[in-house]
Amino acid sequence: MTEFEHKSDWWKTATIYQIYPKSFCDSGDKGVGDIQGIISKLDYLKFLGIEAIWLTPIYQSPMIDNGYDISDYYAINPDFGTMQDFDELLERAHKLGIKIIMDIVVNHTSTEHNWFQQALSNPKSRYRDYYIWKDPVNDDVPNNWQSKFGGSAWGLDENSNQYYLHLFAKEQADLNWENPDVRQDVKNVISFWAEKGVDGFRLDVINLISKDQAFPSDLQGDGRCYYTDGPKVHQYLQEISEEVFQKYGSVTVGEMSSTTLEHCQQYSSLDGKELSMVFNFHHLKVDYPNGEKWTRAPFDFIELKKIFNKWQTGLNGQGWGALFWCNHDQPRIVSRLGDDVEYRVESAKMLAAALHMMQGTPYIYQGEEIGMTNPDYTDISQYRDVESTNMYDIMVKQGDVSHKDMIAILAQKSRDNSRTPMQWNNSAHGGFTKGTPWLEVAANYPEINANYAVDDLDSVFYFYQKLIQLRKQVPVITDGDYLDLAPEDSSVFAYQRKNQNQQLICINNFYAKEAQFELDESVKLDNARYLLGNYKDIGAKPSESLITLRPYETKVILVEA
Ligand code: GLC
Repeated sequence: MTEFEHKSDWWKTATIYQIYPKSFCDSGDKGVGDIQGIISKLDYLKFLGIEAIWLTPIYQSPMIDNGYDISDYYAINPDFGTMQDFDELLERAHKLGIKIIMDIVVNHTSTEHNWFQQALSNPKSRYRDYYIWKDPVNDDVPNNWQSKFGGSAWGLDENSNQYYLHLFAKEQADLNWENPDVRQDVKNVISFWAEKGVDGFRLDVINLISKDQAFPSDLQGDGRCYYTDGPKVHQYLQEISEEVFQKYGSVTVGEMSSTTLEHCQQYSSLDGKELSMVFNFHHLKVDYPNGEKWTRAPFDFIELKKIFNKWQTGLNGQGWGALFWCNHDQPRIVSRLGDDVEYRVESAKMLAAALHMMQGTPYIYQGEEIGMTNPDYTDISQYRDVESTNMYDIMVKQGDVSHKDMIAILAQKSRDNSRTPMQWNNSAHGGFTKGTPWLEVAANYPEINANYAVDDLDSVFYFYQKLIQLRKQVPVITDGDYLDLAPEDSSVFAYQRKNQNQQLICINNFYAKEAQFELDESVKLDNARYLLGNYKDIGAKPSESLITLRPYETKVILVEA
């Protein structure tokens, strides 16, 4: 047993809240959220009941990718405040019993980072080898790898006539993890924040850090098979875990791009040798027909259930997953899988229950707890996200889609759908700022806002509060086995969680049409009671085995011997 084992698994019954600082709360009139804004909302978060905050990057950055392009890991972006503000946040949060998880972006740095600047200005400097440089091949890029934000993944340094790798924007240069000095610097960065008392880390696209050193062209795809879950990724994670995470008892969550279950079993393995848990995104690709994000498409419901089944059963007893519908890269879930007009409240609650009754650590993305929706922008000038504007330029220019169709696609798929300012109240800009917000607030803020939600005991907010409490009170939610009870049903998602003492059945209608679900005869109605529902009148217990579900209805049944 390590000295930290005693506090090692608080996160198994906790719910974590993600804050995207730029859009959370502006304490002044800059139009950009800041750390003092976050401090002013800590009581709100405490009331919701979350145990930790994951802060997306607040470090110094030119903000090409909203902070995922870091130019100094040891400094706070002045837009967000000062190091003193950060220390105050940490102290105030800790006083309320709320932990702080920092976002660590070390697959790449900003090209404005001093390391990259030195690598550019002096190719002989030790920092040249902090990045991945290749000579041109036939006067062209070294291979066909594509940037995830469109175009080639290689940027040319005209002075040296060499290319550097950037899997994301050209201003985000990939670090060379083969270089032990890079790994040492990464450990230094993480230790600096851990020494300050930060409780954990979210590791950005961490399964992309180890590249196939032959850098071959990908005859079948965009290159991802040569760096996703790459050759030395487990070795590198074990090294950091042993030297830093285990030393400080940090909780860690790895963001895993296009990963596999087998790799995630190892990343999050229960022996704690790598990470505490993983984010995978397979369930959020069910509206990408043939893997294609940039289309407008309905979601594949049967596939969604299949994916949850695979990951819930595959991680149980092996590793640990993060549960999430939303983050700053994903559209709002109520607009995506629910009905954000007629059944907004019902479908937001149903989606929450369907996810939160599973095994794992749930993450709530700011605004999800009040059922915020996509903003339905109608003009390209309303978008700020580098991925969205790049894809618009590329796809419309190439003639792949018309301007009108691309606007419709962005309204469904853009990352800005979730980045609109948090809707606090019905004053101008939803109370987010006294100035002009950097990104337009969704027009529905007069009806959908935190003030109204807190005043209304039937709001989505109180449903999330209840889910957070149940996770702490009902052990089967944490440790029960998972069984899909209706894999082929075209509208009902029903699953069972079971441990030695408890059986929990979570039944969800994913559509606006009434549906039915029949409980197995082994479920003794006498011992069954409703734990949760999203319609008022469900009563205390199911009266018969045949359960009728109204539009987007969720019913959670607990059976105890
Ligand atoms: C992750 C972040 C995303 C960012 C990308 C590159 O996917 O969540 O916002 O653009 O990594 O750092």
